Amino acid sequence: MTANKPSSPPPPPASTSADGAKTWSGRFSEPVAELVKRYTASVSFDQRMAAQDIRGSLAHARMLARQGIISRADLAAIECGMAQIKDEIAHGEFNWNPDDEDVHLNIERRLTALAGDAGKRLHTGRSRNDQVATDIRLWLRDAIDRILALLAAFQRQLLDIADEHAATPMPGFTHLQVAQPVTFGHHLLAYYEMTRRDAERFADCRRRTNRLPLGAAALAGTSYPIDRAGVAAELGFEDICRNSLDAVSDRDFAIEFCAAGALLMTHLSRLSEEIILWMNPRIAFIDLGDSFCTGSSIMPQKKNPDVPELVRGKTGRVNGHLMALLTLMKGQPLAYNKDNQEDKEPLFDTADTLIDTLRVYTDMIASIQVKAGNMRAALAQGHATATDLADYLVRKGLPFRDAHEAVALAVRAAEARGVDISCFGLRELRDAMNPVPGAAERLDGDVLEALGIEGSLAARAHPGGTAPAAVRAAIARARADLDQGM
Ligand code: ARG
Repeated sequence: MTANKPSSPPPPPASTSADGAKTWSGRFSEPVAELVKRYTASVSFDQRMAAQDIRGSLAHARMLARQGIISRADLAAIECGMAQIKDEIAHGEFNWNPDDEDVHLNIERRLTALAGDAGKRLHTGRSRNDQVATDIRLWLRDAIDRILALLAAFQRQLLDIADEHAATPMPGFTHLQVAQPVTFGHHLLAYYEMTRRDAERFADCRRRTNRLPLGAAALAGTSYPIDRAGVAAELGFEDICRNSLDAVSDRDFAIEFCAAGALLMTHLSRLSEEIILWMNPRIAFIDLGDSFCTGSSIMPQKKNPDVPELVRGKTGRVNGHLMALLTLMKGQPLAYNKDNQEDKEPLFDTADTLIDTLRVYTDMIASIQVKAGNMRAALAQGHATATDLADYLVRKGLPFRDAHEAVALAVRAAEARGVDISCFGLRELRDAMNPVPGAAERLDGDVLEALGIEGSLAARAHPGGTAPAAVRAAIARARADLDQGM
């Protein structure tokens, strides 16, 4: 090839940024089409990770300086530039430019403008692949901590209401048919247990999130004498990701987070469904504060439970994000693929939805007014103590299957007269049970106690039972757990 042959490389692509070509454009001969730029840019949403990006970069730069890979002077220039960038972002003065693709390149370009060559040295021994994986993990760790704190506040509120209603009877349902008496406090404690497991899941997910990808570089690690453990310690990571290919490519921690989030939303959605039912005027077990409901623009009488309905609705959205991330991951060969840029919006939206939902839910349940009289009245309409009557006969020596049959006859007789079984006296019960040998003669005056709601509740005093004493013990234990951050 002769020196003056006109086969020299074409001129560099037209400027794609205020001050020059794209950072990686050296090997390209054509500029990126506008549409493609817009399609591939992520800065509009990943700028949310700016604080984490700067933290990660500073830890990386300090490590580079400690290891003698960059000079102390370069580090000082990087630190000074980053301080200014932080300030610009905090004051809304940072010029986010979609031409610079993502949060990482935006910050790096500004740093280079401020710090010159030192800024260009920051990326030594690093790739955006391990950089972005680090940023998301830092971001998610913070989000999990916020969610855990909000979840604990929700649980404390739930326990306060449960405490107040540890002895308030309501019908317990199976198949949405009246089954047996429970207390409202006991009912709420079921949701405490569900959310307790949710908290465990988030805490567990945090452990696996809290490992450092930096050092993996693009995929294979780096030839510089880096100190990954030092970077991990500075950033508060419990460990490093132990395989560079895995570190830059898998997003299972984000999937786990969304799965834990989907379960939490599912639990809150179930409670929402109950709140909506309880608020129905036909049931009228509770009322909600006006500020959590809306009226109708046409029907003046309406008070609609919008907040619990939206929680139920947003559960679908979070479930969708979980599916999005699972689907995003399933076909990806090792190592990093641009697909992974699509992890952020579902992840951010899941965290935002969980945070908003927990905040509004805690306030909403604090506004619940319990209509204890209606709960008790509903209990008198479904033969809720029929099982207690059967248990009574069993205690008097009748085999359980015979007792079940005898009580079924009594229920039929009560139904025929349009009353609840608890309205029957000794005579009516004996008459009804007569066809079952050995039943009627086992009934004494004390049977009426067995048919009472308070007796039914008090009898279930074992751990996990609905007796007011058992409910209070469960609440005390739950509060102690929360105090210990468990
Ligand atoms: N914005 C990218 C993302 O979110 C950063 C990593 C880009 N890496 C790359 N090789 N193009 O995943």
